[in-house]
Amino acid sequence: MAQEIVRKRKAVEGATTLPGRYYSDEGIFRQEVDKLFQSMWLCAGRVDEIPNPGDYLVREIGCESIVVVRDEKEAIRAFYNNCRHRGTRLCLEESGSAKGSFQCQYHAWTYGLDGQLLGAPHMNEVPTFRKEDWPLKSVGCEVWEGHIFINLDENRAPLSEQLGDMPQRFARYRMGELRRARRIEYDVAANWKLIVENYSECYHCPLIHPDLNRVTHYLSGQNDVIADTYNGGYQIIGEQYCTLTVEGKKTRPYFRDIRKEDQNRVYYYEVYPNLLLSLHPDYMMTHTAWPKSAALTHVVCEWHFEPEVMARPEFDPSDAVGFWDMTNRQDWRACEISQLGVQSRGYTPGPFSNQEELIYNFDRFVLDRLEGPAVEARQVARAR
Ligand code: FES
Ligand SMILES: [Fe+2]
Repeated sequence: MAQEIVRKRKAVEGATTLPGRYYSDEGIFRQEVDKLFQSMWLCAGRVDEIPNPGDYLVREIGCESIVVVRDEKEAIRAFYNNCRHRGTRLCLEESGSAKGSFQCQYHAWTYGLDGQLLGAPHMNEVPTFRKEDWPLKSVGCEVWEGHIFINLDENRAPLSEQLGDMPQRFARYRMGELRRARRIEYDVAANWKLIVENYSECYHCPLIHPDLNRVTHYLSGQNDVIADTYNGGYQIIGEQYCTLTVEGKKTRPYFRDIRKEDQNRVYYYEVYPNLLLSLHPDYMMTHTAWPKSAALTHVVCEWHFEPEVMARPEFDPSDAVGFWDMTNRQDWRACEISQLGVQSRGYTPGPFSNQEELIYNFDRFVLDRLEGPAVEARQVARAR
């Protein structure tokens, strides 16, 4: 149940950052993969990435590989990327278009886009074998406003439980209608939590992002919500600017259904564990984080616009893309030098400022998932 923030800044007296092992210990990293990334709904991408039947994308988390495919009936499904014969990896490309079926490269077992086993050479010679017993193993797959979510937990709750009031909160942005214009991928030499934590505060903006801080002053915003599985807030675009771009000028119409006050706000929301959703008055930016090891994270950043705006001959997303690519790189550098510090034996947990309550909430969520609620209380007590 979402708990609305009633004060501009909630004090986090006595709370500290996480101990260093949470950023560098591969055993803890494997637990995070298991208890967060393989047990929660993860944002895998956008529906417009696989527009036609047979189009697929592959996402990897830990040692699992998942194929997300649009089937013949246009439904989006997700399967483990393993052949049911002897387990061989089925799709080897990151994305592609299957011509009606997937065929294993080892012994040619063939599966329909719905996962059903269609052909298995010589298996008719095995009397007990029935093709219908050996479909691809499915995983949870649901779509929220064009964002595809997957979930590997067999006992999963519906996506709606994880999203809470997010669907109502941002319905006016009509995210489901937006289309991707650009994608840039980054490998960041930092733990995935440092990336989420960095996204959660603008305490660093004056020093790290002089251009961003000029357009949206770091103290202009407010946190909106802290919930169990997401949090976020907004920043105010300065009076002489229109949106977050290199020049801050208006080069596109604002989203048509947003409120007057949204026209000078940028909303930054974290949907745990891996989606960072940034809603500007005229475009949506998404980051998805894909942890590779305790100290390495692959980040996919995408910029999405209204299709009718993209259809205009003068459409050019480079003002938004250039601004955020620069800002992203500033952030990744901050995360990387932070990683170098927190993995040192000289690092001990440090105190949070009042501008870092979203990090405190996120860290508490991670600890709760890993070790239960009591750990966070112990950690705070230790720091006193
Ligand atoms: S492992 Fe796929 S057909 Fe044998
Ligand atoms: Fe930043």
